[in-house]
Amino acid sequence: MEHILHDILHDLYAIDVQPIISRPDPQFGDYASNVALQIAKQVGKNPRQIAEEVVEKLRETGDFSEVTIAGPGFINVRLSAVNLMHKLQSAWSERYGSSDEGKGKKVIVEYPSPNMAKPYSVGHLRPGNQGWASKRLMEETGWTVVTDNHLGDYGAPLGIWITGFRHFSDEASLEKDGVYELGRVYIQTKKALKEEGERGETVLADEVQQWLLKYEADDQEAIEYSQRFNTISLEHIHAVMRRLGISTDYELGEAFFAPRGKEAVTKLLETGVATQNDDGSVIVPLDEYGFDVPLLVQKSNGAALYATTDLATILYREEVEKPDKVIYAVGAEQQFYFSQLFAMAKKLGIQTELVHLWFGVIDQLNDDGTREKMSSRKGVVLMEELLDQAEAKASAVVEGRDVSDEDVRKIALGAIKFNDFISDRRTNILFDWNSIFALSGFSGPYVQYAAVRVNKIVHEHGFGAPVIEAYDYESEKAIIVKLLEYPALVSAAARELEPHRIAGYLYELARDMNRYYEATPVATGSVTDEQKQARLGILSRVSHVFTHGLSILGIEVPVSM
Ligand code: ARG
Repeated sequence: MEHILHDILHDLYAIDVQPIISRPDPQFGDYASNVALQIAKQVGKNPRQIAEEVVEKLRETGDFSEVTIAGPGFINVRLSAVNLMHKLQSAWSERYGSSDEGKGKKVIVEYPSPNMAKPYSVGHLRPGNQGWASKRLMEETGWTVVTDNHLGDYGAPLGIWITGFRHFSDEASLEKDGVYELGRVYIQTKKALKEEGERGETVLADEVQQWLLKYEADDQEAIEYSQRFNTISLEHIHAVMRRLGISTDYELGEAFFAPRGKEAVTKLLETGVATQNDDGSVIVPLDEYGFDVPLLVQKSNGAALYATTDLATILYREEVEKPDKVIYAVGAEQQFYFSQLFAMAKKLGIQTELVHLWFGVIDQLNDDGTREKMSSRKGVVLMEELLDQAEAKASAVVEGRDVSDEDVRKIALGAIKFNDFISDRRTNILFDWNSIFALSGFSGPYVQYAAVRVNKIVHEHGFGAPVIEAYDYESEKAIIVKLLEYPALVSAAARELEPHRIAGYLYELARDMNRYYEATPVATGSVTDEQKQARLGILSRVSHVFTHGLSILGIEVPVSM
């Protein structure tokens, strides 16, 4: 309704207003708007006259069974359910919700890009969820999508691992605990480095540097360490990603780009884009892009930095993939960094649209009711532990019912992932076990349950073979209106990269469905065959939209729950 009015006002008066819609007493209609009064001044006409012009256009759409004006210019409309059903029928396809808007264009989406030094932590839950949803949104709107896991596999971590392993660990422990041992060694060594620094010593720090230099000089022992540790870490990352149900096409990490980055820096120096400081470090000044801080692209000792590898990544993608857009799913704390990086890309003449898809942190509720960043409590919260806990909670939710392990896993993931989309990604989210599993709230399991219920009915009674003229669709009107909104919603969510809109929509659809069953029997009691076929026809479409929408969020519909 907002949509239609917005477009009519735009056509009539070339203005861009978000009309306020209310639900009047049903005797006046389904919707009411005082927009004619709202815009009278701006348009320079009296409200009554505006209302008349708008009403004429509303009638032309054929969507309404009744359009009237009340008082000084209130517009009341009643929707014609049958007309809406015809509209849905003609818009319908097996790909309902998908479009070709991005056809012929290529996007690279980068996620979850964890760091290899430590076990997968909840710090990379949002990059995975948001990155995956973005990939899905782009796919559903017809883009060619290439995904890349930009691993944090380069730099100090390797030196710290090797040094730490030699001092604080042994083969047996590594054998036994794998990546968790590596993570422990990493943390212990970081602590030891800090302590020696406070004492003014550099014994360990020198050792770390030495290993890094050895690695760069292709030293056999350093390479062997690196390969071994990386294999352990990578297997772990893949196992976690499999559990999360996410994957990528490529896995080109920082280590792959470091040598290319150094070459690129040399070129930037030659062309004068970058400048070398007296200490040997290299910067790219970005004053002309509004930054008084330049981007540091090489350390004084010649080592590559995060920005060096990202510089190379951008150049590599331009050459190999030639994307129209690149989406980086990385947390809010790197906003400044990415704005600098993108400014540097502009300076290099790169036209590709580079998007930092940022999001807030995950907070947790402490027992005393305070809220704090989830990973700050005990150092890190491990992703595998979180998933184990989620599966235990999901089992408890379906306790006593006949639900497969596979479905329990889907419910667990549904709860965790949906929580990522309950508000705009830029806000911090709260991780509260009770609300993420709330079967009566704005949660994944709530929507999944609604989808399971619809599927069960359709499974039992069929998809429906409705003859539209044979039924009035009045009790289904709200749901038909909702279904009609879906394709435009997916397009908008993809354009703005705002998957939370899908979550909000699915929640409303689930709520509407629950209300619907309360009032309307679908296939039981005294329903006529016309009613039954019509209602099943609506349900099978709802089923499609639930599955489609949830799959954008990386969530599957269980068979039962
Ligand atoms: N590994 C990084 C981190 O966890 C994220 C990498 C993001 N991608 C990039 N091209 N810089 O902080």
